[in-house]
Amino acid sequence: MTTVLTSAPAVVRTVRELRERLRDYRAKAGADATVGLVPTMGFLHEGHASLIRRSAAENGLTVLSIFVNPLQFGPNEDFERYPRDEARDLAIAADAGAQLVFMPEVRDMYPTPPSTKIIVGGITERLCGASRPGHFDGVGVVVTKLFNLVQPGRAYFGLKDAQQVAVVSTIVADLNQPVEIVPCPIVREADGLAMSSRNVYLKPEEREQALILSRTLRQVPAWVREGATPESLKANMTASIAGMPLAEIDYAEVLTYPDLQPPAEGEALRHVPVPLLAAVAVKFGQTRLIDNVLLNPNEVN
Ligand code: PAJ
Repeated sequence: MTTVLTSAPAVVRTVRELRERLRDYRAKAGADATVGLVPTMGFLHEGHASLIRRSAAENGLTVLSIFVNPLQFGPNEDFERYPRDEARDLAIAADAGAQLVFMPEVRDMYPTPPSTKIIVGGITERLCGASRPGHFDGVGVVVTKLFNLVQPGRAYFGLKDAQQVAVVSTIVADLNQPVEIVPCPIVREADGLAMSSRNVYLKPEEREQALILSRTLRQVPAWVREGATPESLKANMTASIAGMPLAEIDYAEVLTYPDLQPPAEGEALRHVPVPLLAAVAVKFGQTRLIDNVLLNPNEVN
């Protein structure tokens, strides 16, 4: 039997303490200092842990932020009831190799409501940007604040939120933020359900029917190979998901990635020379789930 020794990460709750810890690390490490940032909203699972492990492997210091950002929740969304479990999060963070955990209070991140807005046009007009107005504006502000506070060389984001990766990458490119965005693969439960902090909301029969998302997305490469057009692919995805009585479809879309434009109508998708994102958002009861598959041109021909 092997014993895994993990040391508890330092926990800081204020911007001031965060800056002090980072200053100490950079003073000690000197020119060798490399900082990786993993931004999260907590209630960590293996998807988050995979980002932390990747950062720990690639950087001298891994900073994990845990902050349920009120700015990115709509008025009728789940900000108040978003799941939280600090002790469990810290155990997962330690095990995955985070060395510094930043868990600020809302009043420390936003002493006053920010007047500065970060609005990314174009790519936020579809998918979650269309269904959740203002959501990506809130993500843009918090991620930019975290980049400015931590000044990481690399920041790790999951492709579970593929549109978020595209939005953050656009902000970084447009504003010359000196950070490399590292997209990481989707981590799934053994039965295929994409891991999400929100999965705990699901009642047993909703959890069972939610498997239709990954089952449907797994068929997408074959549908594309067989000649699907944007319209027929969307129809196939929609029909497959609608077979589950509890599924309420928000969207089932196929777009080019990362610019998130609709491919030409009527054209076989296997001839599109750029990556394609097939993405779905579906409500089961009160719980809205998202999932997607990214197809590279050489994978469907
Ligand atoms: P959160 O939903 O906690 O996710 C934090 C990071 O973990 C995101 O980059 C997300 O894509 C990634 N992630 C979540 N589930 C995953 C899975 N199953 N596999 C791989 N990666 C996964 O996304 C946010 O928080 C917030 O919008 C945030 C970026 C922290 C800004 O507030």
